[in-house]
Amino acid sequence: MKVAVLASGRGSNLQAMIAEWQEGTLPVEFVGVGSNNLDAMALTIAEKAGIPVRAFPRDNYNDKSEQETDILNWLEDIGTELLILAGYMLVLSPRFVRTAEYPIVNIHPALLPSFPGLHAQKQALDYGVKVSGCTVHYVDEGMDSGPIILQETVPVFDEDDEETLSARILKKEHIIYPEAIRLLANGKVKRDGRRVIIQRDS
Ligand code: GRF
Repeated sequence: MKVAVLASGRGSNLQAMIAEWQEGTLPVEFVGVGSNNLDAMALTIAEKAGIPVRAFPRDNYNDKSEQETDILNWLEDIGTELLILAGYMLVLSPRFVRTAEYPIVNIHPALLPSFPGLHAQKQALDYGVKVSGCTVHYVDEGMDSGPIILQETVPVFDEDDEETLSARILKKEHIIYPEAIRLLANGKVKRDGRRVIIQRDS
């Protein structure tokens, strides 16, 4: 399966996937890593792994729509069969999502549908939940609202702050995101409306 990744920042989820791919446990071909941010650490990580990279800085375009068109054309040119968002900080427009002929997946640092959007870990702390976690989901035209593929939980402790909770969640992200990609690449993920059925080997 030809996968492309969009990332804006430090790229730790990308790194986790690349590590599994290098170990031979992630049966995908990384056809490209793109970013809206020229300085994204994710681009450096990809380059080191020998994956083609492309930057799409907003300043190069008249508007967001032009930027998205360029990204869509690039994704098509490189033969994308699955688009992975890994800390991509721009919200994809409904047009982008409708135009893409391949599934798009994302990871969110909360148990959706709770706490969508930015600063999910802070939202969870402020709300006072005792359990949080992360969610791998399909991307639809809404905000973190697509069908859920995998979730993992973590406890929230009284002494937690945004940093400690984020770190605990991130460790789980690095496990379930590569796992979700592996399941997708192995054809083990079936969609039935909003429900996503995972075929586990018995
Ligand atoms: C993660 O917390 C992820 O859940 C969110 O963005 C962050 C990306 O981190 N979507 P990294 O760039 O993968 O380290």
